[in-house]
Amino acid sequence: MALRVMLTKKLVRSGIGHCRGLQTFSLPDLPYDYGALEPAISGEIMQLHHQKHHQAYVTNYNKALEQLQDAISKGDSAAVAKLQSAIKFNGGGHINHSIFWKNLAPVPEGGGDPPKGSLGWAIDTDFGSLDALVQKVSTEGAALQGSGWVWLALDKELKKLVVETTSNQDPLVTKGASLVPLLGIDVWEHAYYLQYKNVRPDYLKNIWKVINWKYASEVFEKESP
Ligand SMILES: [Fe+2]
Repeated sequence: MALRVMLTKKLVRSGIGHCRGLQTFSLPDLPYDYGALEPAISGEIMQLHHQKHHQAYVTNYNKALEQLQDAISKGDSAAVAKLQSAIKFNGGGHINHSIFWKNLAPVPEGGGDPPKGSLGWAIDTDFGSLDALVQKVSTEGAALQGSGWVWLALDKELKKLVVETTSNQDPLVTKGASLVPLLGIDVWEHAYYLQYKNVRPDYLKNIWKVINWKYASEVFEKESP
């Protein structure tokens, strides 16, 4: 009994749970307080973004997975096909935001500190300098039409760093199975409209002050071929 309670708590913390035999997902805790990224990102935006937007993706993802299970059990192929877009959109929203929170850190905890070690060297090799990479990510993020994400990724096949964008909530894997996300920046309006009055380039200029390069470095070192 005690083991079951411990296991359940562990699964909830990791964002995974079970409902009627179906694996479900839950909103992961943020590794910092909502106001801890100010002034780069306001506490109000962080709270809304996490509690409302990310929660909605999780809720709708679980709903779609439950409907999928029902459709499969009934052999309803049309319903299975119809659910694919909701699963991609909401599942992608959950995957992307779960990465995004880890890509940010309060300044006293290293937010904005430049990458050290092998990631720092790889950035210099593939982009010329960290400043050049920041410029490229910011420019591509600002130019992305509509809503989406801009990514710094490791391409495990090409063995190099690349900058990619995805539309809507498409996760990075939709651009290539060999791409590992190191850093994803949310360029949906909901990520900045309250604070930056819809001026996406201003948001993209300031977010670098709280980027958690330590996390990106850890992923890079783990995934480097
Ligand atoms: Fe978002």
